[in-house]
Amino acid sequence: MNRRKFIKDASLAGIAVTSTVTVAACASESEKKPEIAATVNVDPVRPLVIATWDVKKSTAKAWEVLYQGGSSLDAVEQGVMVEEADPNSMSVGKGGLPDRDGNVTLDACIMDKHGNCGAVVYLKNVTHAISVARKVMEDTPHVMLAGDGAEMFAYKKGFQKENLLTEKSKKAWEEWKVESKYKPIINIENHDTIGMLAIDKNGDLAGACTTSGLAYKMAGRVGDSPIIGSGLFVDNEIGAAVATGLGEEVVKTVGSFLVVELMRQGKSPQEACEEAIKRIVNKPNSNYKDFQVGYIALNKNGETGAYSIHEHFSVTKHQANSNENIKSSFFNKG
Ligand code: GLY
Repeated sequence: MNRRKFIKDASLAGIAVTSTVTVAACASESEKKPEIAATVNVDPVRPLVIATWDVKKSTAKAWEVLYQGGSSLDAVEQGVMVEEADPNSMSVGKGGLPDRDGNVTLDACIMDKHGNCGAVVYLKNVTHAISVARKVMEDTPHVMLAGDGAEMFAYKKGFQKENLLTEKSKKAWEEWKVESKYKPIINIENHDTIGMLAIDKNGDLAGACTTSGLAYKMAGRVGDSPIIGSGLFVDNEIGAAVATGLGEEVVKTVGSFLVVELMRQGKSPQEACEEAIKRIVNKPNSNYKDFQVGYIALNKNGETGAYSIHEHFSVTKHQANSNENIKSSFFNKG
């Protein structure tokens, strides 16, 4: 489908193709990818989906759901499932990098427009951690299941047992074992936790977050990604935020909740992401030069923001006329 037909179809489907004034330089002004900055929308932009990193196939899948009138919850689940299923994606799902003992353990959470949420931590042998998290949300009275309990629950719900350690990730682990250096790797292959936020045609928000966690972590280590409020937070009255990077630092500031609360206080998504990063880097004795954290955020109007500590974080944004990976602005200019 060409772009013109796509826009025409979007209008026929009653999907608003609205003008957005972006404060940062736009692509036509520069050959470089634009840095995302606060956007001022003339009308609410919806539907719309954003995700951490360069995951255009995932946002395209989520967009397909939204375009067909699906909910933001279905969109974010199906969107991140694309990355979870990709064995070449070494930070989520099948093919994710293992812990130091060679076990791939997944963390994920999902949150809907009602504030319902579900999460799994330390899940082994099941590719689609996000879908197990959704089942926890919808089919149990709980918010989080861990380890063997989460795995047994997944099998009861019909998920298949799979070996998640691919030859590629096994080889990377064996190479790591030679020196066994335990240190966060900034922007690991420019691709870390996949977080996705969407607003559907009804203006309802949802979010999903999925990861294999810190590469070569200690057995049992869990990061921010499955922790509601840290890795992800959605408030359907205000907006949503999701984090990527070193989970320990996100947890210490309850980062995604903080971003949403800052939006509640009147900040734009961009300003809120920047303030949340500043909370991390401005801590006394912060060693922020050694790790990366990035946030993306979306508010009820379809305005978006992204900010990270270091360069090379990016956000993928799919709206009616484009599916674009956009370089994030960042704190550490050296
Ligand atoms: N943000 C992913 C993790 O730290 O596990």
